[in-house]
Amino acid sequence: MLGFSNHLPIIQAPMAGGITTASLVGAVSEAGGIGSFGFAYCSATEIENQLRNARKITKGPINANFFVFPEIDKNEETEFQKALRSLKDLPINFHTKNDSIQPPYNPSLKAQLKTIWREKPEVLTFHFGVPDEQIMTQAKSLGITVGVTVTNIRNAELAFRAGIDFFIAQGSEAGGHLGYFQDTDFETKMPSMKLLGLLKKKFNLPIISAGGIMDGFDIRKYLKSGATGVQMGTAFLCCHEAGTSTTHKNYILEKKERPTEFTRAFSGRWARSIQNEFTIHMKDKHILPFPIQNTLTSKLRAFANANKNGEYLSLWAGEEFARARALSVSDLLHELSLEMKHGIN
Ligand SMILES: Cc1cc2nc3c(=O)[nH]c(=O)nc-3n(C[C@H](O)[C@H](O)[C@H](O)COP(=O)(O)O)c2cc1C
Repeated sequence: MLGFSNHLPIIQAPMAGGITTASLVGAVSEAGGIGSFGFAYCSATEIENQLRNARKITKGPINANFFVFPEIDKNEETEFQKALRSLKDLPINFHTKNDSIQPPYNPSLKAQLKTIWREKPEVLTFHFGVPDEQIMTQAKSLGITVGVTVTNIRNAELAFRAGIDFFIAQGSEAGGHLGYFQDTDFETKMPSMKLLGLLKKKFNLPIISAGGIMDGFDIRKYLKSGATGVQMGTAFLCCHEAGTSTTHKNYILEKKERPTEFTRAFSGRWARSIQNEFTIHMKDKHILPFPIQNTLTSKLRAFANANKNGEYLSLWAGEEFARARALSVSDLLHELSLEMKHGIN
């Protein structure tokens, strides 16, 4: 149903923010896996261009991924000033103004999906929540397979009732944002193997496991435990085709001794990043709700990126990032399939 080949039951994770280029996605799908676009912050035109560019590379299945953004009230001025002061204390000079952060704080999902209904990628996945009934009906009528990220049983029940086709079971080892639906769900996060076991017992739907899966040995372990496939993000971050910034890639490959941690500092939602000066600085500081904090810190991140200063970048990475490989997609997938077949030394 998902359409990947049996020897490569691998979804390259959607990773919003320019990482999932058409060359990355196209190469994964062409090799027999499923390449995913992280379209959360993209305009309809960008989505259309990216999908068409990937289509020039492959006829294989492509996944388009979106965030179900929360409804946000206008931000209180006092709250805003407090959050702004947290950034002013930083030992890095960048400029941001209060009035540069105005609603809408995120792109309209409805407008984004108009492109999807035209271009019809084979798979559509959602992070942070369940799409509404109208979206589900439209996807079904076009034969598009729908998946939702779940991090606990409560979220899985909601997704199941909405009529999704498969779960992406994201464990707490995962890099980037955890896909929980409500803030209180963060407390119930759990490792991916435990989540797989709980979901298997309760639901009769395909499960794609995600979080800390880095090699063919890991993949075999999840398949043996009942997963239909795996979704891997960090493992693809250093691929030649990935749009990951050079600074981000260098931290993954060269700062293997650093821990990762969950932080709300960059976006207002809990996400796993390699620890840096910013995550440490922001520990007890005032943070705005997602995605307003994301907009607030965007200039800081752009400034840090331009100056190749990884200490103020969101260095999203999973717990197992030290095992990431800097290879082309085809070499990485070749190594993964050999490891799956023969085990690793
Ligand atoms: C840099 C980065 C960005 C991510 N962005 C998204 C996203 O836009 N949408 C999504 O559903 N998941 C996103 N994720 C989470 C992945 O889908 C997946 O759950 C995670 O990468 C699995 O853990 P791993 O990184 O240890 O492989 C992101 C992960 C990373 C590392």
